[in-house]
Amino acid sequence: MTSRHLPVLDFAPPAVAIDGPRPAAAATDARVAEFRPEDQALPRFWVWTLGCQMNKSDSEEMAGRLLATGCAEAPRLEAADLIVINTCAIREAAEAKVIGRQGALAALKGANPALRVVLTGCAVRERDRAGLRRRFPAVDLFLRPDEEPELVERLGLASAQGPVGLGSGNGAAPGARVTPGPAVAPRTAATTIVKGVAVSAADHLAGSRAVAVASGAVRRESAVAAWLPIIYGCDKTCTYCIVPFSRGPERSRPFDEVVDEARKLAAAGYREITLLGQNVNSYGHDLPAEARFDHVAEARRAGRRIDRASRPDLAELIRAIDALREPDGGRAVPRLRFITSHPWDLSDRLVDAMAEAPSVCAALHLPVQSGDDEVLRRMGRQYSIAHYEERLGRIREAIPGIAVSTDVIVGFCGETEAQFASTLRLLETIRYEQVFAAAYSPRPGTPATRLPDDVPAAVKKERLNRLLALQEAIGFARNRERLGSVASVLVDTLERPRDHDHDAEGDGPPPPTTLAGRDPFAVPLPDGWVRLAGRSRENRLVHLAGPATFVGNIVDVRIEAVGPYSLRGVLA
Ligand code: SAH
Ligand code: SF4
Ligand code: F3S
Repeated sequence: MTSRHLPVLDFAPPAVAIDGPRPAAAATDARVAEFRPEDQALPRFWVWTLGCQMNKSDSEEMAGRLLATGCAEAPRLEAADLIVINTCAIREAAEAKVIGRQGALAALKGANPALRVVLTGCAVRERDRAGLRRRFPAVDLFLRPDEEPELVERLGLASAQGPVGLGSGNGAAPGARVTPGPAVAPRTAATTIVKGVAVSAADHLAGSRAVAVASGAVRRESAVAAWLPIIYGCDKTCTYCIVPFSRGPERSRPFDEVVDEARKLAAAGYREITLLGQNVNSYGHDLPAEARFDHVAEARRAGRRIDRASRPDLAELIRAIDALREPDGGRAVPRLRFITSHPWDLSDRLVDAMAEAPSVCAALHLPVQSGDDEVLRRMGRQYSIAHYEERLGRIREAIPGIAVSTDVIVGFCGETEAQFASTLRLLETIRYEQVFAAAYSPRPGTPATRLPDDVPAAVKKERLNRLLALQEAIGFARNRERLGSVASVLVDTLERPRDHDHDAEGDGPPPPTTLAGRDPFAVPLPDGWVRLAGRSRENRLVHLAGPATFVGNIVDVRIEAVGPYSLRGVLA
């Protein structure tokens, strides 16, 4: 496919890097407003994000670009002049949620004719451009995930505000380690063909991310824990999955850029970084070979082989971020996580790096999808349960006490009761801390749509409920094992007084089990203390009480009460 050259009026890089977002238009004193007409012309925006961490991270970048352009954030969706919807398409229900809001959006547009609606994310796929208008009639502009860096220019906002330099692709800001390109229109909107289908070619995303980071145009939701994308797209061929069609082939960000972003995050006070990718384990295979990575030689253990020789991998990246130091010699990034790992190429090098880098948290999300080899084969997962269990055994041996979570699809094409029972048995053997399960939902254009979706909806639902009930009991038992232990908790949330009464993830969960009959939340709070929450290194949600100033700190908490989905404790 050829690349479209978009009419971009201004994408020159700024003379100096913009240090954080410019002040919002709304902050302008009304009495001087007439002297700043450009502010008045800029919309107040709202970003509505659905889907996974990758979408959350992408939304942070879009919000950052809009703020850096001078747009202000609206206090709520209904008050916005620009609504950006970052969609998820993993299951039909995720898309239906946005389709169901079209009427309400049309009504808002009726009341505010200046309102513009942009739809981006995984629902925007090249092969379905025509269908988009029909399904999302209230939307003015559709951007594929790889076109998101163009948001500001495509809305004409860059030209409204003068040079902002946050254009996509070739515009390299000073200090950004990207290959400088010629000063022409950005090279985005190119597509490539995967399995006969046009999908986005996200080659430019690494460069546009570098520009956004260098110019401070990433508006992070949290001041404590940050997302850090390391690889875009997905090269896997899971037959049920829409992601390779919405996000295109894998593209790794250059090694030094990722480490640089981690260093900046540490300097800005972030305590935890989560490296993001649809499959972080394949990070680096598409980067150029370099002498400094000559020791990286390990090939994939199962499935299609890729040449990894002399290229950086996730293990190298983890070690490099773990090695970052503060001026006083302390570890710059105290907590490091990554998501998601595909079991097919989870290497010994990675397991060793996890075990040897103290910043890596003792938690791993390792999606299994099914406990039956025949179902896995139909899913195109490229591993057997024996391989999965071997890898998990290796990890548990290297990192004792590591918390493992997974994803499961129930009711995939042809799944028999016996095959489903194998999944339940696997859950009982492995005893995951947490399982994210969903009923199979056929996605248009994916290979699995050629298989009959023959498990009736009622059976899918019944299997899902059985699985969730089993996992609730396992998760609860797992949490009970933690009673009396001390967890290291990164406090990130000030809770409303009664938040802890509802174990948000469960529908009427059983009452908590307490240590020696003590529930730390049954006693009144000392003066000046508030309810707080955070995550343990094992990624368990922990509720506690303490001064509000604890937010952003890592504290030791003794676990005194547990439910199936969270723990409660007191400062140790
Ligand atoms: N890249 C990640 C997963 C991304 S999607 C990985 O491979 O682990 C998150 C989860 O959504 C998947 O693990 C899978 O369990 C689920 N999922 C994906 N496609 C689905 C579909 N068509 N129907 C139901 N669940 C699906
Ligand atoms: Fe989808 Fe499989 Fe890629 Fe995960 S690894 S995003 S499930 S194709
Ligand atoms: Fe959804 Fe796209 Fe993430 S389909 S799960 S938002 S990669």
